[in-house]
Amino acid sequence: MMAISRQVACYNSCRLFGRNAILQTVDAMSGGRISRRALMGGAAAIPLLELIPRGLWGFSSGKRQVTIRADSEIGLVRPELHGHFAEHLGACVYGGIWVGRDSAIPNVNGYRKLTVEYLRELGVPVLRWPGGCFADDYHWHDGVGPAANRPKSVNLHWGGYVEDNSFGTDEFIGFCRQIGAEPYICGNVGSGSPEELRDWIEYCNFPSGSTISEERIRNGHTQPHRVRYWGVGNENWGCGGDMTAREYAKLYRRFAVFAPTFGGLKPFLIACGPNRNDASWSRDFMDSVPPRHLPQGFAMHYYAEGKDNPAAYTPADMAAQLTTFGDIERAVIEQRALLDGYDSGRNVALIVDEWGVHDRVVPSEEKTHGRLWQECTMRSALAIALGLNLFNRQADKLYMCNLTQTVNVRAPLLQTDGPEGQRCIRTSVYHVFTLFKSHRSKTSVHVESDDPTSTRFSVSASRQDRDVVISLVNASADEDMPIDCKLAGERPGSASAQILHSDDLNAFNTFDSPETIAPRSHPVRVEGSNIQLDLPRLSVISITVRLV
Ligand code: AHR
Repeated sequence: MMAISRQVACYNSCRLFGRNAILQTVDAMSGGRISRRALMGGAAAIPLLELIPRGLWGFSSGKRQVTIRADSEIGLVRPELHGHFAEHLGACVYGGIWVGRDSAIPNVNGYRKLTVEYLRELGVPVLRWPGGCFADDYHWHDGVGPAANRPKSVNLHWGGYVEDNSFGTDEFIGFCRQIGAEPYICGNVGSGSPEELRDWIEYCNFPSGSTISEERIRNGHTQPHRVRYWGVGNENWGCGGDMTAREYAKLYRRFAVFAPTFGGLKPFLIACGPNRNDASWSRDFMDSVPPRHLPQGFAMHYYAEGKDNPAAYTPADMAAQLTTFGDIERAVIEQRALLDGYDSGRNVALIVDEWGVHDRVVPSEEKTHGRLWQECTMRSALAIALGLNLFNRQADKLYMCNLTQTVNVRAPLLQTDGPEGQRCIRTSVYHVFTLFKSHRSKTSVHVESDDPTSTRFSVSASRQDRDVVISLVNASADEDMPIDCKLAGERPGSASAQILHSDDLNAFNTFDSPETIAPRSHPVRVEGSNIQLDLPRLSVISITVRLV
């Protein structure tokens, strides 16, 4: 384990600093005592950064040195790396997204008006629904047709309450159209059947003439919904059926065979991938599915767990939680390499289907706000920014990443004051996505910094033509960082920056003070090829640069 993580540290260091530059430095410093073989991955592999005196990292000037290699491309930052997830869980769908047409809460055809406005403004590239664990006990046909006739079922996973099915497929698609999101439906493998999934695809995608497509038309949707993304189960190693990878793979093959192309739209099937970086799940699955049935997407779930109440973190516990983002980056690199071993053409896309922050759930807050409610603090914002930075750095390996969850659950974009409350606010996490939005559809580029593997100071950058966007995270609770950022081989003409910051890692937006943590403009100075700025402790900064 240690050898693997050291190899990854070496790999990352070399990738970001340049392999030969690092090796030459270490050769010179050790007088050749440390062999290159040991450095590059032998059993005694040594993290290179441990060997380089801090002075050579760039601290000698008292400033953090960052170099943006704007001509050294990594890959496209697909907008889908900023995807989201909405489950029938707590007050995410009911109360958060859907309040019903007769509600006193301002709504657009039953959708909470402020939720629609805020999400439309942010732009949600893709939205995954209906779960989560809920998906593997959801029967889609219960959720279509006149609402009064829909059966009442029981939400087994999230509290055993009666689900009235008033938010179903047509309501989900309507919501996606309102906010401009691409729909992603997760099918039921755990308690469902291949027939049920094929019928659901027919309901959504078959133009007209069949009994099922005519049912959709009778329900008011003459045009097919044209849903492209279909998940084949969720966490089938756990709540989705507690299967082994080989058991799941056998089922996956059956479901895949009956997932039809209708109206020229081939479903993009997303198979259940590993819990975290579980290589044996991925290997067993890939070993059990012949090339002709390989999925288009393979979905890993990876959360940053924490042991504290969300608004009562200590700096040490925050630092421990944030190290998970180094583990996630390693998992992306290793899982992609594992898939490449089976699929050198990269036809199977790697997806981080669920990610975010899991803090301790406070029972009294759950009671008021719904299941899995947790406060979003400055610490949550730092965590999400570390995630989005690593997705930029690994953009060539990733296809889609969906945050858990959109409204009220875990580290959401929006919070409402209870399912019945009129008020809806944007969380610190929403504002991180705002700050990262301008990376979308740009090309991520290489960045060199003091410590590229750090989750204390993190950086990423992207470029399109003469526009460069740089994101910086200072996740330290006690160190302000002056930054000297060089654009190698380029001259910045102008630069501006936005900051998300609080002196208090446990600060959060409240209904009475909803802008406590919100983007503000931040001073930057352009000096030749360099940009100078201060990066305060506990802050996320996004710099927009126009090159000459
Ligand atoms: O987001 C809450 C739950 O976390 C999801 O239902 C499940 O997939 C994951 O474990």
